[in-house]
Amino acid sequence: MNTFETDSRYVAHTYNRFPLEYVSGKGSLIEGSDGKQYIDLGSGIAVNCFGLNDEPWKAAVTEQLGKFQHCSNLYYAAPVAQLAQMLCQRTGMERVFFANSGAEANECAIKVARKWAAEHKGPEYYNIVTLHKSFHGRTLATLAATGQEKYHKDYRPLPEGFLYAEVGDKAGLEELVTQNKCAAILFECVQGEGGVMPIGQDFADTLREVAGKHDLLLMCDEVQLGNGRSGQLYGYMNYGLQPDVVTTAKGLGGGLPIGAAILGKRVADVLQPGDHGSTFGGNPVSCAGGVNILSRLDETLLAGVRERSSYIVEALRGAKGITAVNGMGLMLGLEIQKPAREFAELALQKGVLVTIAKDNIRLLPALNIPMDLLQQAVTVLKECAAE
Ligand SMILES: Cc1ncc(COP(=O)(O)O)c(C=O)c1O
Repeated sequence: MNTFETDSRYVAHTYNRFPLEYVSGKGSLIEGSDGKQYIDLGSGIAVNCFGLNDEPWKAAVTEQLGKFQHCSNLYYAAPVAQLAQMLCQRTGMERVFFANSGAEANECAIKVARKWAAEHKGPEYYNIVTLHKSFHGRTLATLAATGQEKYHKDYRPLPEGFLYAEVGDKAGLEELVTQNKCAAILFECVQGEGGVMPIGQDFADTLREVAGKHDLLLMCDEVQLGNGRSGQLYGYMNYGLQPDVVTTAKGLGGGLPIGAAILGKRVADVLQPGDHGSTFGGNPVSCAGGVNILSRLDETLLAGVRERSSYIVEALRGAKGITAVNGMGLMLGLEIQKPAREFAELALQKGVLVTIAKDNIRLLPALNIPMDLLQQAVTVLKECAAE
């Protein structure tokens, strides 16, 4: 059996895979087992922020691998402390809990919100407000936090204590937090799985105002948009917010599993020894990769993200078959006239990898994708939309 057949036979059928087997890659170019080369506009869903086989990241990770790969959270490891320090210094926050994924980072945020509220407001203040069309993960609590019925329907009963507000509906949000005893608001600045939809400056201001007025924690899910992709280090920085909790994952590790819940002043000491934990969370190899990634997300790199974003938006907005281009930085969504799966399969046949979010095409290229490759890929996207 070849890889396609073995995988179909033995791997659980939770993914609707495209017919491409990775063999190797360099930067934004992928070699498939079919002998063809592909331009990657997906980055393994916003993970490989400096592309594949990236030399500085590989050097950082292999240096740590040559020392020790894991030591458990019973002991100290320099890359873990260093990454936490960098995250705090660059966000103005206080402490970091390391996990292995975005869902786990959000689980930590949910626990922090519940414990903080129980201690400061009373145990009945356990509700967390999230937004319709949000996505926060696949564990049962983060599924419950996700404001999309299609993810809930087969898994009831879900953990209670999640309420959903509509993006843009200030009155509805006010009503929800007035009529229910709430701990926090959890939100994404750009709803990725919800179709790549920014919540907008006005609603970001509303979230800050309502959280302030009702003594709620503001918790920003930066799992997909964070780590440079928005054109700022974290997406909330584009909206001038200062959340109490920031969760991130994906791009932070540059390709190895990591998750982080970054805790601000109000919640810095909520978690005490024994309150939460993880065997693999804060793996030193992942953290060494994270230190390398974060040290390279400087103003020059971020300016490059904004420049590439403007190029894509200008090239595709108004193109035949594309009805809208939404998003922020290098997390962009194309509203298209043909079914998204058909578009993505056509793009693959023409040598370009894209992802899908709801009915839209989602572009998540490497933050340093070379302009000439981006131009080639954009030409292919235009052809796919117009055909
Ligand atoms: C905004 C957001 N939050 C959470 C998650 C879950 O992350 P993970 O798949 O690493 O658990 C995702 C994954 O796509 C995401 O986009």
